[in-house]
This record gives sequence, structure tokens and C-alpha cells, in this order.
Amino acid sequence: MSSGGNHSAVLDRYRNTCVIGAGVIGASWAALFLAHGLNVVVNDPQPNIEDVVRTMLAKAAPTLKALGLPHEGLEKNLRFEADLEHAVAGVDLIQENGPENPEWKQKLWARVEPALPKHALLLSSSSARPATEQGKLMKDASRLLVGHPFNPPHLIPLVEVVPGDHTSPDATADAVAFYEAIGKVPRVLKKEIQGFVANRLQRAIMREACYLVQEGVVTVDELDDIVTSSIGLRWAVNGPFSSFHMGGGPKGLESFFQHLGKNMAVSFKIIPQVELDEKLQRTIIDQAAVSFGRTPIPQMERKRDDSQLAILHALADVDAQQGGRS
Ligand SMILES: NC(=O)c1ccc[n+]([C@@H]2O[C@H](COP(=O)([O-])OP(=O)(O)OC[C@H]3O[C@@H](n4cnc5c(N)ncnc54)[C@H](O)[C@@H]3O)[C@@H](O)[C@H]2O)c1
Repeated sequence: MSSGGNHSAVLDRYRNTCVIGAGVIGASWAALFLAHGLNVVVNDPQPNIEDVVRTMLAKAAPTLKALGLPHEGLEKNLRFEADLEHAVAGVDLIQENGPENPEWKQKLWARVEPALPKHALLLSSSSARPATEQGKLMKDASRLLVGHPFNPPHLIPLVEVVPGDHTSPDATADAVAFYEAIGKVPRVLKKEIQGFVANRLQRAIMREACYLVQEGVVTVDELDDIVTSSIGLRWAVNGPFSSFHMGGGPKGLESFFQHLGKNMAVSFKIIPQVELDEKLQRTIIDQAAVSFGRTPIPQMERKRDDSQLAILHALADVDAQQGGRS
């Protein structure tokens, strides 16, 4: 499924957007939508929501600039509307980023449904709640699906597009086209699964990382350092399967499984027990406090974004030289 290329025509279809819930994720989406010239109505009951979103716009500006996007005067297309029905009236697209609570999301979609134009695309940023569950109280959930970003959505390319049982194929194609038009890398999941794909992978790695700290094998900063100087660097270029394909020798995965498959199969069955109880949480927090935790988070975030931009630009340069990613 692909946008068919004409991004500005796609964006014309979704000129009027509503961002419901503008915390960490929603404010970042708002910044990206505005940078692509879309009108954004923010609906969020937080009393200081205007400050939250404006602070995010300022914080995102250097990243948007580095992405080659407009980053000044974005507020001219931004509006705040506390009344939900008014906020969604006449919109072409909703990106929902409210509390991760299934009942709340179900009630929200049932409530906005009568106020929406038929063509409106309904996208939820939810990290784990599938569209089939979210749309349970709707009369027609054919335009509802999950568009799960990675934080911060204005920078990280991936969006997991996860249709529910009632999502129409057209809505899925529309979501893919929309996310491509705003520079994202949408990937459609063939089935709904709790936690989707990227977070399931993160969770599996986090479980092992906590185990290694629990057992005193490494400290949290040592573990992070091991990741960033090995698999983190590798995985920005090749995923686990293509990495091991190259690691297998001339016959790729076939020889990889011949040599290492048996041992890997045994190790898959040994899942070490991790008690992420208060004691382990405290160990992790205390170890972080005397290492990377000494750096203020906004400073860490700026370095994270600059470094990730540098990686994205370097990868784009290699692609341009070598004719696309293999
Ligand atoms: N934080 C992440 O890394 C991340 C990544 C991907 C997806 N998500 C998903 O995005 C969604 C939002 O997560 P977040 O981290 O931005 O949370 P957050 O707590 O930062 O933001 C949630 C926002 O929803 C607002 N809100 C509360 N009640 C509301 C209501 N009735 N109407 C409108 N807005 C309301 C809150 O005021 C707050 O600003 C969740 O579904 C989460 O699973 C989070």
C-alpha cells in the first residue's frame, strides 16, 4: 500500500485536523501537522494546555528546521477548543492521544461519531489498545484505526498502522497515504496484537536488560553503553533478521540456523525470571541518578534529537549514493 506519490493532494484531503489530548505525544503530532501546513484544533482539558503546546512548538522548532520543514509562525493555523463536539465538527482527521484507558477511548469515539463528517479519518496513537476494542461503542468503526507513533512523533519515522476488525481497507490505505505525506514511515500490521510490534520488541529487550541489572552483571549506564555501541548502531541500518543473514556466512540465514539454530532454540525456552518490584526499580533509579540521570532531561532530549537527526541524514546520504536501502 502506498500513497501513490502526490503528497500535497493527500494533505489537501486532511486540511482540518483535530489533536485530542496534547501531552507528550499529541503536542508533538500537532507540531508536525502544523509544519506540514495543516490546520490543527487542540482539544485537551488541561488548564495550561496552550502553554504546553506552545512550549512543544518551540522545543520542536530546531528539529523541524533540520528536517527541512517550516518551523516559524506555526501558531497561525493552531486553535484550542475545549468543547469536544465543537473541536471535531467538520474535521477531516483526528489524531487521538488521550489517556491510555480503553473505556475512555471507547466513550470518546462513540461521542465524537455523530459530530464527524463521513470521510473523517480517525487515528489513535494508542501504544496497546487495538482499534477493534476502541470502536466497540461506535455504530460505524470503518474509519477508525491505530496510528501508533514512536516518541517524538515529529522526528521518529515509524508509525504502526493497525486496522481493527471493522476498519475498511480504504481507511487503512488513507492512513498510510496520510502518514507518508507528512514524512513518516507507516507500516501496516496484518493482525491486531497486544503491544503491536515495536513495543513488544522493546519490552523483550527491557525484560532482559532489567534481568542483567537485577543479577548485578552490569549497571544501567553500562548496559545502555553496550546497546548503543553494538546492536543499537546495527539496528538503525539492519533489523535482527537481515543482521543475522549477514552473520551467517555465504548462505545467509540458512547457514546461520545450521550453526546456531539449535542453541538459539534452547535459549528461547529459558526465560529468566525478573521481579520488577520496588527493590529492582529503586536499584535502576539509583544507578541512573549517578550516571545519565545527572543530565537534565531537556538537555538529554536535545542531544537525542540531534543525534537521531544526524543518523537519519547519514542514512539518507548512503541511500542516495547506493540507490536505496537493501
Ligand atoms: N509517551 C509515549 O512514549 C507514547 C508513545 C506512543 C504512543 N503513546 C500513546 O499516546 C497516548 C498519549 O500518551 P502521552 O504519553 O502523550 O500521555 P500524556 O499524559 O502526556 O498526555 C495525555 C493528554 O491527554 C489529555 N487528556 C486527559 N483527559 C482528556 C480528555 N477528556 N480529552 C482530551 N484530552 C484529555 C491530558 O490532559 C494530557 O495532556 C496514549 O494512548 C499512549 O499510549 C505514548
